[in-house]
Amino acid sequence: MDLRTALKMGLTRLRAANVSSHTLAAELLLLHATGRNRTSLYSHPEDPLTQSESQTYFALIDQRAAGVPTQHLTGKQEFWGLEFEVTPDVLIPRPETEHVIEVVLDRLALRALRAKQSQNMSGENLVITDIGTGSGCITIALAKELPAAKFYALDISPAALEVAKRNATRLGFSDRIAFIESDLLAAVSATGPQHGCPGLHAAAPKLGSRRSSTVPDSALSSQKSPSLFDLIVSNPPYIARRQAATLSTEVRDHEPAVALFGGEEGYELYANLITQSAFHLKPGGLLVLELGHDSLPAVQPLLDTPAWTNIGVTNDLAGIPRVLSAERTSGS
Ligand SMILES: C[S@@+](CC[C@H](N)C(=O)[O-])C[C@H]1O[C@@H](n2cnc3c(N)ncnc32)[C@H](O)[C@@H]1O
Repeated sequence: MDLRTALKMGLTRLRAANVSSHTLAAELLLLHATGRNRTSLYSHPEDPLTQSESQTYFALIDQRAAGVPTQHLTGKQEFWGLEFEVTPDVLIPRPETEHVIEVVLDRLALRALRAKQSQNMSGENLVITDIGTGSGCITIALAKELPAAKFYALDISPAALEVAKRNATRLGFSDRIAFIESDLLAAVSATGPQHGCPGLHAAAPKLGSRRSSTVPDSALSSQKSPSLFDLIVSNPPYIARRQAATLSTEVRDHEPAVALFGGEEGYELYANLITQSAFHLKPGGLLVLELGHDSLPAVQPLLDTPAWTNIGVTNDLAGIPRVLSAERTSGS
């Protein structure tokens, strides 16, 4: 059988199974099964598949038709121009999360401009924490854009951290990222209350005993003010558990529940996340959060305290308020 025929048969099967983006899925699975790239596929559609390629391809098509996400079959997903390994232990990076990266870079650029440091967008002296790092996509995309910044990548899931570490190593960023198993900021909160503090504390973030990092302590303790972070970013789980039945089988049955559900209503994690971030950000530090499609009304009021200023809301391409950002004030 030639490539063109295999592609047609695959996409017909996926269409019949109501798979979304069935043409793209069939194409990606064919490329994966044959080890070809798109150029080779479309310039030589008459090339025959070997028997083993054909068996692999149609087995993948069957799995996709049964609801397994394409990314779990190919083991990868592109994000911010980088190729990430994905497994069932991590959320598959979504295109809308790229808005989080854009907002972080915009807000840092604005801050640098205000401080008349517009030439310095390398992230020098910045310490950034990503809460719920999953595959590591946010941390690693920011590490690419901010080549001098240092990062803490936190996740409650040790299995996710293993995937994130592999991605950081393969993509060449592991020397600037400390991976830490942590419930929100708990593992860096040993020196202060975990659920809220009226002021800023002076002690350094203390790493929990479950720290797992290739970054030497000295690298991370070289921050200007060792006590606090310059930026906290998070794409927390935000789907409502009561809406689980409305999710597609790809998502509900194949992506980790800990990465999907924020609680019965979905937005439950944001309150602690925002309170703990206020405690851990330097004055003038930035908080950037991804939002669920209907989270804004529940989450934005949480920033309505003297701890926060310069609140920003950024819509995604579908016009949904997707990213909430704010600056830590100096005096509260
Ligand atoms: C929506 S996923 C985001 C993953 C990745 N940052 C991304 O944008 O693709 C949420 C991540 O938060 C982690 N998580 C869930 N609850 C957490 C908690 N209490 N503390 C830290 N991480 C948590 C999950 O394991 C998951 O990796």
